[in-house]
Amino acid sequence: MNAPWKTGAGNGRDQFAAYLCDEASLDVIRPIVMEMGWQPEKCNKGGLRNAIQSLSITASPNILMVDLSESGDPLSDINALAEVCEPGTIVISVGQVNDVRLYRDLIASGIHDYLLKPLSPAQVRDSLAQAQMVYASPKSSDPNAASQHVSTAVIGTRGGVGASTIATSLAWLFSADAKLPTALLDLDIHFGTGALCLDLEPGRGLTDAIENPSRIDGLFIERAMIRANDNLAILSAEAPISSPLMTDGAAFMQLEEEFREAFDTTVIDMPRNMLINFPQLVADVNVVVLVTEYTLASARDSIRILSWLKANAPHSRVIVVANKVQSAISEISKSDFEASIEARIALSIPYDAKAAALAAKLGQTFVDANRASKAGIALRELSNLVLDTRDEGGEGSDGKKASLLDKLDLKSFMSGMGAKKAGADAQ
Ligand SMILES: Nc1ncnc2c1ncn2[C@@H]1O[C@H](COP(=O)(O)OP(=O)(O)O)[C@@H](O)[C@H]1O
Ligand SMILES: [Mg+2]
Repeated sequence: MNAPWKTGAGNGRDQFAAYLCDEASLDVIRPIVMEMGWQPEKCNKGGLRNAIQSLSITASPNILMVDLSESGDPLSDINALAEVCEPGTIVISVGQVNDVRLYRDLIASGIHDYLLKPLSPAQVRDSLAQAQMVYASPKSSDPNAASQHVSTAVIGTRGGVGASTIATSLAWLFSADAKLPTALLDLDIHFGTGALCLDLEPGRGLTDAIENPSRIDGLFIERAMIRANDNLAILSAEAPISSPLMTDGAAFMQLEEEFREAFDTTVIDMPRNMLINFPQLVADVNVVVLVTEYTLASARDSIRILSWLKANAPHSRVIVVANKVQSAISEISKSDFEASIEARIALSIPYDAKAAALAAKLGQTFVDANRASKAGIALRELSNLVLDTRDEGGEGSDGKKASLLDKLDLKSFMSGMGAKKAGADAQ
């Protein structure tokens, strides 16, 4: 069911590569690799260091087998390996040290398996089959899955600040640039512009979901959502102005849940009024992008919404973004604004009326229509900032790009190795 979103785009990476120090080990794995339908030429002579060298210039394979045994400085080598591996790479390590502690440290660190030399065909076959299963299985069965999915709620401090513009732009960047299967949920049920700005009809999907929450499942989502590009599906409505919103919010919770299963990222265009009736909607979001302007009214409501978020979305990372910035004519300066809301403005997006008009004319998202503009560049920075959350396992961050090292928690492995190396200068 989730297949179209999870596996739609082949990642173009090799299925498998191995870097093993000795011929005996290579002789054991080559026939098994052929049995698996992989290329035996990808079984290279050499250990961890060779792996690092090769992978620094080529994409890492889906499944990687590396020999730790000849590594002079496993600590920094493992660190370097993590830096050159794509997220999601499944690493099987091989070594000569028969030590349960090492094994447990490796496993705890996110390394898939540790095989002891001399390798036995049965053991290798088993391990590779298992690795393949883990790789192929939907992310929900991956222990990292919960932290993999990033759901972002975009909230405007006031109407018109550009929350929907930013929500649709983020969804576009996640899906078209980062190639992540993305769901855009437009919760402005009566006046939403999520579909409109992409020149699409909203359809009945969201209306049906609200009317029949029990029908919401993977299949429903596949049918009800409107596709905007290969990786982006939208759920929105244009409910008649005469129809009040009749829901207890269960449908929205159910949708958020299904999106977590079926997509890598969710962007929710969340009108601030929805917070009043359905505070539970932000309980599980990973990131809140709070969009504001440098006005007195926006300062007051930033303060109120930020404090409300502390109580209602304590785990989510809040990124405050100033939009439509025209420094020369702002009601409040950036520094005064920051002082009054007691939070930093992570990004400023300049006011650019031409860019907004161009996007409307082209029927494209703001960012897609204005990639080279300052506003477009700021939006890309915002997208990266949000996606960093993904690398960091959904935790808050200072915006720095996290490496696979952080993700796999190889540091704990390294300290384990450090402890083993008597007198070594482990951190
Ligand atoms: N940085 C910007 N510069 C100029 N116009 C903008 C900018 N961001 C948004 N707009 C325009 O402001 C209007 C309101 O934006 P919208 O995203 O619908 O706001 P909200 O969802 O917060 O009510 C739209 O016409 C949009 O094109
Ligand atoms: Mg809006």
